[in-house]
Amino acid sequence: MTISASSKVFADRIGRIEVSATMAVSAEAAKLRAQGVDLVDFGAGEPHFATPRHIKDAAIAAIEANFSHYTVVPGIPDVRKAIVERHAADFGSDYAIDEAVFTTGGKQALFNTIQVLVDHGDEVILPVPYWVSFKDIVQYAGGKVVFLETQEAENFRITADAIEKAITPRTKAIILNSPSNPAGSIVSAEDLERIVHLAHERGIFLLLDECYAYLIYTGKPVSAGSFTWAKEHLIILGSLSKTYAMTGWRAGFALGPKPVIASLSKLQSQSTSNATSFVQKAAIAALTSSQECVEEFRAELLALRDQMLAKVRAIPGVTCTKPEGAFYLYPNISAFLGKGGVKTASELATRLLHEAHVVTVPGEAFGTHEHIRLSYPVPKQNIDEGVRRIAEFLAKLE
Ligand SMILES: Cc1ncc(COP(=O)(O)O)c(C=O)c1O
Repeated sequence: MTISASSKVFADRIGRIEVSATMAVSAEAAKLRAQGVDLVDFGAGEPHFATPRHIKDAAIAAIEANFSHYTVVPGIPDVRKAIVERHAADFGSDYAIDEAVFTTGGKQALFNTIQVLVDHGDEVILPVPYWVSFKDIVQYAGGKVVFLETQEAENFRITADAIEKAITPRTKAIILNSPSNPAGSIVSAEDLERIVHLAHERGIFLLLDECYAYLIYTGKPVSAGSFTWAKEHLIILGSLSKTYAMTGWRAGFALGPKPVIASLSKLQSQSTSNATSFVQKAAIAALTSSQECVEEFRAELLALRDQMLAKVRAIPGVTCTKPEGAFYLYPNISAFLGKGGVKTASELATRLLHEAHVVTVPGEAFGTHEHIRLSYPVPKQNIDEGVRRIAEFLAKLE
């Protein structure tokens, strides 16, 4: 069959989404690398640490024991038990095993949750800047994204007042990601409680992406899951990717009301079935063993944040908010737009890649036009070298 652009081959829904911008950047960078170009990579959204030994050992032991067949779709009872017990111990939540599903990465938990809840025309409130996939996943389901602007001068902080103003009779869900990708902003404990009230009273689902919950540099990790009285409208989306340096393993989960979790499981049963069997065993080891590795990762990431923030803020013309969590900087590069033929953040990121050999992700991917995202889990010397290259490139733009 010849696929022509004019004939209607593809379903409308695939036309509503774009290739994930971070993945597009990685693909472009991979091409240059294959040509032998020495790149400094601030593009990847993942920690540079190795997966801890005890987690790898658990997977190896599971493979050796031939734990390599199908499992029940939502994950074996032990992995769901480990998820609910870890969350209860760390955040004071109160979920039962059948209120948890183990998924192929946090992204699947998010994707399936949106697919089972959001219908055509339903509104979903999404604070800006947002992680690339939230917008596209809602649009894929036919939902309408209601963008909620935040103020850079206030560290892109999301407030209950702003959320309340964005609610309409069509609001089906609110997405919160705290600490956030890309700005590392957090929702204060007071605002979080008010937002939970707002959502619960109106029957709106609150989707809490806790992917970076443990990577927080101000105060203790918090979760709306502790507000057990609102459980009916809370869906916690978790991931082991960043917490335990397990991005490639694809391990995530959702916690929520039993009927929602049953629907997630139903959808999963018709798509990917169970997440990889031996990854479930590795996840049990990650969640039930000592959490020392998480604290070690957090401390190292905090040191890298401080190192990179100081260097980036020292570049003349660049300003940067102080991220309170996650592992990205989101510097404002508006002073350079209009210089040297660079009109947009996307063009700047492309020129940085090809001319300065530094991988960054343009702000357009996150809903803003004056920023680039820099991911800082890289060896220390790469921070010095990469920021030096960026500074040198920007200084030459006239
Ligand atoms: C905010 C946010 N949520 C979810 C994910 C998905 O993580 P994973 O599918 O690897 O668990 C990411 C990954 O970058 C993220 O930044």
